[in-house]
Parts: sequence; C-alpha cells; structure tokens
Amino acid sequence: MEYITLYRKYRPKDFSEIKGQEHITKILINTLEKNMISHAYLFSGPKGTGKTTVARIFAKGLNCDEGITSKPCNKCKNCLSINDGTNIDVIEIDGASNRGIDEVRSLKERVSLSPTFGRYRVFIIDESHMLTQEAFNALLKTLEEPPQKTVIILATTDPQKLPLTIISRCIRFNFKRIGINDLVDMGRTIAKNEKISVDEEVLYKIAEASDGSLRDFISLFEQLILFSGEKIDIENLLSLFGESEDEVYKDFFIGIQNGEDAKILSMIGELINSGKEVQEILRGIIGYGRKILFKKIFEEEIDSEVKSLKKDFIIDVIDNLIELFSELRYSNFPRFMFEIRVLKLILKYSKTKPLIVEEEKPQKVIEEEKKAPHLIKERSFIWDDFLLNLKNKNRAIYSIMRFGKFIEIKEDKIYVQFPYSSKFQKEMADEKKDFLRNFLSELGYKNYDFDFSIQSEEDYLKEREEIEKSEEVTTLFKYFDGKVEKIEENIEDTEDEKKN
Ligand SMILES: Nc1ncnc2c1ncn2[C@@H]1O[C@H](COP(=O)(O)OP(=O)(O)O)[C@@H](O)[C@H]1O
Ligand SMILES: [Mg+2]
Ligand SMILES: [Zn+2]
Repeated sequence: MEYITLYRKYRPKDFSEIKGQEHITKILINTLEKNMISHAYLFSGPKGTGKTTVARIFAKGLNCDEGITSKPCNKCKNCLSINDGTNIDVIEIDGASNRGIDEVRSLKERVSLSPTFGRYRVFIIDESHMLTQEAFNALLKTLEEPPQKTVIILATTDPQKLPLTIISRCIRFNFKRIGINDLVDMGRTIAKNEKISVDEEVLYKIAEASDGSLRDFISLFEQLILFSGEKIDIENLLSLFGESEDEVYKDFFIGIQNGEDAKILSMIGELINSGKEVQEILRGIIGYGRKILFKKIFEEEIDSEVKSLKKDFIIDVIDNLIELFSELRYSNFPRFMFEIRVLKLILKYSKTKPLIVEEEKPQKVIEEEKKAPHLIKERSFIWDDFLLNLKNKNRAIYSIMRFGKFIEIKEDKIYVQFPYSSKFQKEMADEKKDFLRNFLSELGYKNYDFDFSIQSEEDYLKEREEIEKSEEVTTLFKYFDGKVEKIEENIEDTEDEKKN
C-alpha cells in the first residue's frame, strides 16, 4: 500500500476537525450558511496552523454538489477532486515559485476566466508575500473589479510584507498558534488510529518543540514512529532528537535561578565541547529567553517550570547576555567572560530568593465545638537555600552549619538544632554567630538572629531506640552480631568538597 505522510492523512476534511481556530471557522461557516461570499480573503498566521486546509474546506463548501454548504459532503466529484488537489476550478498557486513574467501573465489570464463546472472559481495563493510587484499589480486589478463567482484566498506567514492596497481589499483572518493541549490531543488521536503506544510525556515534549505548528507536530511524531515502531517512550525521543536546545536553555535559566553553579558551568562546557561558539550559545539563550518572556506577557500556555521564572529575572538575564555579546568582540577570553557573567547572575539571584516564607499548615483546634484541624499561616525559613548562599560566601562556616536542622522561626529568632553527635559543630556555630547575623542582614534579613541548640540526650535516646527497633536494623542484626554503638546524621559531602 502506498504510504501517505501522516500530515496529509490527517488533513481535516471538515470545519469541525479544525483545531484551535474556532474564531475563524465560526465566521466562515456563517458566511457559507448565509451565502454572503466575499471576493477576497487573507489568511495570515504561522506555518502549519491550518491556512491551506481551511482554504480548501471553504472551497469545497462553495463547490460541493449539494450546493453552497458549511458541511461539504466529501463524496461528490468536486469535493474529492478538491481534496486531492485536482479540481480545475480550485487553483492553488505557490507565491514563492510564480514570480516570473510568464507566470504573472498566466495568473492574470486565469483569474479573468469564469468557472467551468463548479459554481465558484477559487484561487488559493500560498506564500503570497513572495509575489513580485508585477504580480501584486495584476492581483490588485482583479481585486478592484472582481470577476463574477471568483474568490481569492491569500495565505501568508508574513502579512506585513503585503502591500496595504491589497490587505485593505481582503477580509482578514489571523490564524493562531495551536496550543499545547490541542497538539497533544492530535497526538493521542493519531496514536489511537495507528495503534501506537506512546508516553504522554513524549507527546508533551514534541508539542513543545513544535512551537504551535500542527504540521511540525505531526511530522515530528511521524519521524518518531518510523524510528521507534509502535512503542514510544522518552528514551526513543532522546535517542532520535537528542535533548532539544530549548530544554538546555530552559535548564540554563532555571539553574541560574536556583543557584546551581556547578551544573551551569558543566552545561556551558558541554555546549562548547559540542562545537558551539560562545556567541552562538548566547544567541540561542537570548532567543529562548525572548520567546518565554513573550509567552508570559501574552499569557500563552507555558510549562510549570517556566512559570516559576519571574519576568524581571528573565529580562535581566537577557540584558546581561546582550551586553556581554557586544563586549565579546574585543575579548580573547570569551568562554571565561561568559562563565564569570553567569556566576555573577547566580550570586545575585540566589541571594534575592526569599528565605522566610509563609506556609499554610494544619493545626488542631482544641476547643470542644470545633475539633477539626484548620489551616494556620506559619512562617518557615528555607534552610537549604540559606546554606546554598552561605556556601558561596564562606565554605568553612558552611561546612559547620550544614549539620544543623531548622526547627522554627519565632519573631526574629531562627531556631536551629544540631544533632546530639554534633556538639562540636554547635559550639563552633555559636562562635560564628556575629558573622551569621551580619550575613543574614546582607541577605535582607536585618535584626534576625539564630538560636542554636543541641538535641537533648532524651530525644537522642528515643531516636536511637526507634532506629534500633526499625526493620532495617533488626534484619541486619539477624545476620551479624552486634549492637548500635553511635548514631550519626549522614551528611553527604558535595562533589567539590570530596576533591579538597
Ligand atoms: N488547525 C488545524 N487543525 C487540524 N489540523 C491542522 C491544523 N493546522 C494544521 N493542521 C495539520 O497540518 C497540516 C498542514 O496544515 P496547513 O493547512 O497546510 O497549514 P498552513 O497552510 O497554515 O501552513 C494539515 O494537513 C493538518 O494535518
Ligand atoms: Mg499552507
Ligand atoms: Zn461534495
């Protein structure tokens, strides 16, 4: 059997199958039902969003054997020949390849003829912004004195390149990017029809990579099917396409915000090792930043990770990188300058992240009448983020403090407890209290102070008893003789400390 590419196989044959363009299909359906046909339409919008498809459905609605209808039958000779592009009254012209004088002349001639069998002669001019000035002039004449029963549909991704004189004579429809959910939905339909099992995560990833183009989405999905067969998981996706650049750039923004300096530096290293110039990487990151910024401003769908990035943060990162871009022209150390600039951004942003936050927590109500727990607002101190900041400021003090555990915050005191086995660290922490108080105020928490305590012997013994009774330990003792000698927190060394 002949293999039909999926995007053609799944080309909608009816207005009801068009996704994400209800604002357009509604009007066109009305136009057909009320028989209020105009001479010229302009379909503008990004590629793969349905311009050509909608134009063909409209043409069928005009020429179906059942008469002008918003629901073409898709069975009659006219419908069928329009579907496969062989109808003599529905003429598709590619603006990009009809630029010569002869083509323009024949365009002129063809437009002046009246329709043969059908009721309407429909010209669908794709990539119409690529027409030559001459062709536009010919077109304009036709638009000024349109022949009977002729409809011209101009499709373009770049409406700003069309002469105003043309635009003003058309009824204009702006096609929108197709939203992630509609794209994924299409993926589910195709998977079901083609009997393919595919992880949802994969569909979401290709949807993101398609940037609102349903055609791109279907093509990517098709490549994946040809590559992996009927079972598709995220591994297949990665081995076919690798991690998409956008994913890398996203991790870059998120990494800066989370203060992940080591991760960012190795990411830069990998990009450079893959053969990219620093300028090229910057261009990619700036482009991606611009894209997510616009999505935020225009409130388009974005994934939850990107949602967590603040607008002014994105703007500042882009701003810094643009400045860096021009500085690089005079530099012999582009990579190093890039790294330093990024590390500075990390320092700036990991500091400004709030360390004290309000959380809603359940609290039991003791009064007789209301026994149920209710939510109270409680302040919490983000100890892990504090440690991350401290690590950048003073390694030695950080290596003491990381033994501590945040307990609570009351008024302006932050209570931290050290485990029973870390008396030494607790004493050191007390000695560094002045430093820590200053550091807190440097981070924006003036007048705050720490209160360090040590776990009581009683608590320690209780904890120890619990651990001794735990299944892991009792099983261990079944095989080995012994008793619990000492219990210590397992505090992992970070990679770079192991090296020191
Ligand atoms: N809005 C849409 N609804 C359903 N399918 C669509 C839509 N837009 C595009 N497609 C799919 O993508 C393919 C190409 O669409 P097309 O109409 O040629 O896009 P455009 O002309 O805007 O570039 C179609 O065959 C169809 O499979
Ligand atoms: Mg098209
Ligand atoms: Zn028909």
